[in-house]
Amino acid sequence: MKKLFSREEIEKAVKKLAASIERDFEGERIVFVCLLKGSFMFTSDLVRHVKNPSRVDFIRASSYGSGTRSGGKVAVTKGIEENIEGENVIIVEDIIDSGHTLKRVKEILSLSNPKTIKICALLDKKARREVEIEGDYVGFAMTDGFVVGYGIDYAEQYRNLPEIYVMEEEGEA
Ligand code: PRP
Repeated sequence: MKKLFSREEIEKAVKKLAASIERDFEGERIVFVCLLKGSFMFTSDLVRHVKNPSRVDFIRASSYGSGTRSGGKVAVTKGIEENIEGENVIIVEDIIDSGHTLKRVKEILSLSNPKTIKICALLDKKARREVEIEGDYVGFAMTDGFVVGYGIDYAEQYRNLPEIYVMEEEGEA
């Protein structure tokens, strides 16, 4: 595994995202919706840098099918518990890949009539997009490569690593 982003780089990016959110939502309430599991660490760091009156909730979407990472089929297996009607919702996501997960989650949350709904993603693999979805706040744009750490797993491992690593094929330098 090769280190891609250090703790310092992540912290700097998270603070920058928090500052943009504070600027856009000055004096407003926010409900952060953490998309489990990969976003738990990012969410916990992000929310402590945003001074707005906030609530935090969690949603779990699981993808099934074959081919792409989410295969185009996304089921929500744990919904939110807070009332988000008329609220500013920010979905917090570790990585946007094909975009299927976020598209589905955004559609579902929109049914509750929030005032605004935005996406804050730490990593964005734009080139892999299969559906039209954009991050409103993005930490790092990246090309291909399988990343782990800072909440992101490979077969449920490595979520606890404080840095972000890219996994290399066996035999690669
Ligand atoms: C990963 C990642 C995103 C999603 C991105 O989650 O955390 O939520 O895939 O892929 P997409 O843009 O192609 O839909 P995963 O389903 O692996 O669950 P996890 O967060 O629990 O690890």
